[in-house]
Amino acid sequence: MADFVFYKELINHLDSAVLVVDQNLTVRYLNPAAEAFLQVSGRRCVGEPFQNYFNDTSESLDTFKRTIRKEGSFTKREAIVQLSNLQKSSLDYSVSPAEFDSSPCLIIEMHGRDRLTRISREEDLISAQATTQALVRGMAHEIKNPLGGIRGSAQLLERMLDNPELKEFTDIIIDEVDRLRNLVDKMLGPNKLPERAETNIHEVLERVRSLILAESESNVKIRRDYDPSIPEFAADKEQMIQVVLNITRNAMQALMSERQTNFPPEITLQTRTIRQFTIGHTKHRLVLHVSIIDNGPGIPDHIRESLFYPMVSGRAEGTGLGLSIAQSIVNQHQGIIECDSKPGQTQFSIYLPLELHERNSNDGQRLM
Ligand SMILES: Nc1ncnc2c1ncn2[C@@H]1O[C@H](COP(=O)(O)OP(=O)(O)OP(=O)(O)O)[C@@H](O)[C@H]1O
Ligand SMILES: [Mg+2]
Repeated sequence: MADFVFYKELINHLDSAVLVVDQNLTVRYLNPAAEAFLQVSGRRCVGEPFQNYFNDTSESLDTFKRTIRKEGSFTKREAIVQLSNLQKSSLDYSVSPAEFDSSPCLIIEMHGRDRLTRISREEDLISAQATTQALVRGMAHEIKNPLGGIRGSAQLLERMLDNPELKEFTDIIIDEVDRLRNLVDKMLGPNKLPERAETNIHEVLERVRSLILAESESNVKIRRDYDPSIPEFAADKEQMIQVVLNITRNAMQALMSERQTNFPPEITLQTRTIRQFTIGHTKHRLVLHVSIIDNGPGIPDHIRESLFYPMVSGRAEGTGLGLSIAQSIVNQHQGIIECDSKPGQTQFSIYLPLELHERNSNDGQRLM
């Protein structure tokens, strides 16, 4: 019995999605990774025909039946499978025969390719982020050092000037030095560690919603699609507001700059949770997924790859720091921001672990 509990726990914690199908090709069991992958709950699909949830139209049911009769197992790479919500997913899967309560059955193991591609993209993003951060830190240090000297000297000079009209020039030096210093500080991102307290994500979104409605003079519609069951989580609320505000303000600016009138400008704020989700190298049991979706023109092509870098802007009056600051804050909360954009639909996704005890990447579980 103890063994049984152990193995069940083990399977429940696997990152691989496992589906068990009996000889009538009905679902007997699926682990949480398979529930997440097939986007169904186990309760709903156990006892139902498996092809309602996992339909590889390029493979006949006979092939699966032959495997149950132990006429060979098989593996398919880059298969396209239709899920119960009619979405298609690209995956690798292996089918092998087994016995369950002395009845023959099939074990289907799945590895999503979309997810693997996403993880490698995410790793690139995190390492690019770390490289730019290091570069910016080095540069900021070199710029800030002489600025102190320049400002001090301008102040001394100012005191020694007899002609008050010349003071205008020392004021310009001091103001410009201050402007540069603020810019460099902003580039460095938040200069304090997050002060975490129990935070309700919907309070954050509601605050941003009212700010953006005011800024846009209600010219942009903001739709809410919240999952009210999301628990509070440990985060720095003010920093979270800044993250969501930076992203939502960009969406608003993109919508307002677009003079097309064939669709009403709209932003959707959406919250969901995802189980068993990997961010970088760390697998988390429960992750918050906040999406900010707009129906504007999309990210300009020439900045797509460098979107999260500091000083990258597609707007004439932009400093290009909004997204880089947002990404640093979310990274400090062990999360990540991603973007998926095409004309008519731009989605920024913020992923944040809801369980802090799994946050440290050193003690996190490695995916591959
Ligand atoms: N939802 C969006 N739709 C279209 N383009 C976007 C969207 N979000 C961001 N962008 C593009 O990404 C660029 C970078 O955004 P970011 O917030 O980092 O800088 P910024 O808005 O230009 O300046 P700042 O936020 O510092 O004032 C924007 O200039 C814009 O071109
Ligand atoms: Mg911005």
